Amino acid sequence: MNIQENISLLPFNTFGIDKNARFFAVATSTEEVKQLLQKSKEMNVPLFILGGGSNILLTKNLEALVIKMEIKGFELIRENENEVFLKVGAGESWHDLVKFCIQNNWAGVENLSLIPGTVGASPMQNIGAYGVEIKEVFDHLEAVDRDTLEIRSFSTEECKFGYRESVFKNDLKEQFVITHVVFRLLKSPRINTDYGAINQILKEKGIDSPTIKDISDAVIEIRRSKLPDPALIGNAGSFFKNPTVPVSTFEKIKSDYPNVPGFPNEDGVKIPAAWLIEQTGWKGKRFGNIGVHQFQPLVLVNYGGGDGYEIKELSKKIQESVLAQFEILLHPEVNFL
Ligand code: FAD
Ligand code: EPU
Repeated sequence: MNIQENISLLPFNTFGIDKNARFFAVATSTEEVKQLLQKSKEMNVPLFILGGGSNILLTKNLEALVIKMEIKGFELIRENENEVFLKVGAGESWHDLVKFCIQNNWAGVENLSLIPGTVGASPMQNIGAYGVEIKEVFDHLEAVDRDTLEIRSFSTEECKFGYRESVFKNDLKEQFVITHVVFRLLKSPRINTDYGAINQILKEKGIDSPTIKDISDAVIEIRRSKLPDPALIGNAGSFFKNPTVPVSTFEKIKSDYPNVPGFPNEDGVKIPAAWLIEQTGWKGKRFGNIGVHQFQPLVLVNYGGGDGYEIKELSKKIQESVLAQFEILLHPEVNFL
C-alpha cells in the first residue's frame, strides 16, 4: 500500500482536467480498501473514491486521499437453469464486463456496451442506455462502510435505483466504498431493440434475428456516431439529466414549440435536455478551451487545457438560459469536485 503525494489527476479523468490529489493510492483488494480507510482517519484527511473518472468534473485540487479502485476479477458464483450470477471486482472496466458476457453468451448488458468507467461506479447512478438500466441485471453489491469498516451487502431494493440515481448519491452519499457487484445474467437472451436506432441499424445490415453480439455492435456504432471520444476531446458524457415535466407543462411548451420531442413516462413527459439546450442557442458554442459540443449539446467539452471551474460556470449559464426560456431546471448528472 503506497500513498503518493501531489499526483496530477489529468490521466484519471475523461474531462482531461489537470488538478492534483494531495494524496493518492491504489486499492486492489477489499483488505487494502479497509487499510486505506483506516489510514485516512489517522491522517485526518477527507476521502475520494475514484473509478474511471468518467463522471466527475474537477474544479479544484483535491485536499484529500484519492483511492483509485482497482479490485479486479470475474467469478461465477452460482447458476440455475436460466441465469448465471457473476461477481465482478469494482475496478474492472464496465465495457470489459460487457465483452466478457458476450463471449460467454450471457445476456442482459449488451445494450450498455461502451459506457466508460468501472463496474464499481455502475450502481452509483444506475447507469443506463438504449432502453436498459443496470438495475435490471443487478443482484446485489458488497461495500465497505467508511466509518465502521464493516462489509455490507445491498439488494436491488436497498440500492433505491432511479433514473441516474441510487441511495449512494442520496441518503448514503459518501458512506460506502463499493468493492464488488454481482450481476444476474440470462442464459437465453431477452432481446431489447425498442430504442429506434438499434432496429434501424439491424435492418440496414439485414439482421432479422439478432444475437447479443449484433445488439452490442449496433449500440457501439450508434454511440461512436453520437458521442465524442474522450480520448480525442475531453468530456464526461451527458452533463445534465433529461428532465421529466408534468404533462400540462409539456403541452404548454408544445403550443409554442410544436416540434418539441417528448417521451411519456409514469411521472410525466421526458424532454431531451439536448433539445432544450439547442433551443437556447448554446449548441456548438466555444469559449477558449471549453465549449458545448457541436453535434450533441448535452455534452460539455474540454478541447485541451480547459479549466473545470470554467466548465462549471458555463453549465450554470446553460441552466439559467433553459430556466428562463422554459421554466425547467436542468440537474447535472456529472459529479462536481
Ligand atoms: P467516476 O467518474 O470515477 O466516479 C463517479 C462517482 O462514483 C464519484 O462520485 C465516485 O466517488 C463514485 N465512485 C466510483 N467508484 C466507486 C466505488 N467503487 N465505490 C463508491 N463510490 C464510487 N453514463 C450512463 O449512465 N449512460 C451512458 O450512456 C453514459 N455514456 C457516457 C459516455 C461518455 C463518452 C462518457 C465520458 C461518460 C458516459 N456516462 C454514461 C457516464 C459514466 O460513464 C458513468 O457514470 C460511469 O458509471 C462512471 O464510472 P467511473 O468509474 O468513471 O466513475
Ligand atoms: N437532440 C436535439 N439536438 C441535438 C441532439 C439531440 O434536439 O443536437 C434531441 C433529439 O430529440 C434526440 C434526443 O435529443 O432524439 C435524444 O438524444 P440522444 O438519443 O443522443 O440521447 P440523449 O437523451 O442525449 C441519453 C442518455 C445517454 C445515453 C443515451 C442513449 C441521459 C442524460 N443521457 O442521451 O447517457 O447514452 O440517451 O440511451 O439520460 C450519459 O448518461 O452520460 C449518457 C451519455
